[in-house]
Formats: sequence, structure tokens, C-alpha cells
Amino acid sequence: MILIGFMGAGKSTIARLLGKELGRPFIDIDTEIEKNLEMSISEYFAQRGETAFRQIELEVLKLALTTERIISTGGGCIETAAVRSLLKERQDVIFLRCSFDLLYERVTREAVASLRPLVNQKTKSELTALYESRLGYYQEVAQITIDTDALTPIEIVEEIQQLV
Ligand code: S3P
Repeated sequence: MILIGFMGAGKSTIARLLGKELGRPFIDIDTEIEKNLEMSISEYFAQRGETAFRQIELEVLKLALTTERIISTGGGCIETAAVRSLLKERQDVIFLRCSFDLLYERVTREAVASLRPLVNQKTKSELTALYESRLGYYQEVAQITIDTDALTPIEIVEEIQQLV
């Protein structure tokens, strides 16, 4: 199972909970990238830029897709055409859809900004534009879309279990 969605959609939390429920290991692509690089994503963005990051993200995701793990992706992976092609071949891509206002509140509130260079670099209206430009991509590659605004993490997990 592969969870996709914008920053702050809860992909990592849901992947961890699902893993627990299903007794399956999960992998968080952002964490895996940071382990491989031995630096934070923000540091890497600053040193090498987003294009280099997207290449590494593609490689790490490719490898994860060869395993049975529940995968939590980074919100921007679908910007990469090769990632979209890989995901379209799958039958287990789940889009955690959430309104922009809620996502924005979460990503600006959470003390994890170091993991999200784009939140620091962009204005609110730029982030809105990014969200809107990505919505179609998420929908295009996902077999299942869950509207998460009114759901707790446990309820989201229950809904996924009913649908898969
Ligand atoms: C990004 C989302 C982040 C991380 C990086 C870029 C994006 O992942 O991969 O900061 O382009 O939306 P999360 O969706 O887990 O925050």
C-alpha cells in the first residue's frame, strides 16, 4: 500500500498505524532519504536543490516498491513523471485528500518545518498554487481517495481496511 497526498495529510501517521493494524512493516520515504543522505531534507535542498532531491526520492521510492512494506511518500513525489508512471502500474495507491486550509494550518503549526523546506520558502498563496497543481496528479495515480478532513487517524485506517 502506498500513501500519497500533500504535506501534512498524515501519510506517515497513517502508514505507521496501518502497519500496526495489519502487522506489516512500513517505510517513510522522507526518513529513508535522510538516513541515506545523513542530512536533513532541508539541508539537502539548500546544498543541492530540489531537482537533485527528486532524483534521490525516485530511487528510494523505486526500491521501496520492490518490498511488501506500507509506503508513506513525500508530498511532492508525484511532481516526477517517472514516479507517476510507477504508481499508475500499481493497484494499491491511496490518496489522503485534505482541504488546503487544514493542511496549511498543520504544516505551519507542526514543529517539523526543518523537514519541509518548501513551507519555509513559499508564501501561502504559492503553497495554494502548489496544492492545486498537484491535486490532479494525486487523483490521476490513486485507486482510492479518502477525504480525511472530518476523520481521526483511527477512522482513516478503518476506512482503508474496509476498502482494500
Ligand atoms: C515535499 C514534501 C515533504 C518532503 C520534502 C518535499 C513536497 O514530504 O518530501 O520536503 O514537495 O511537498 P511530506 O509530504 O512528508 O511533508
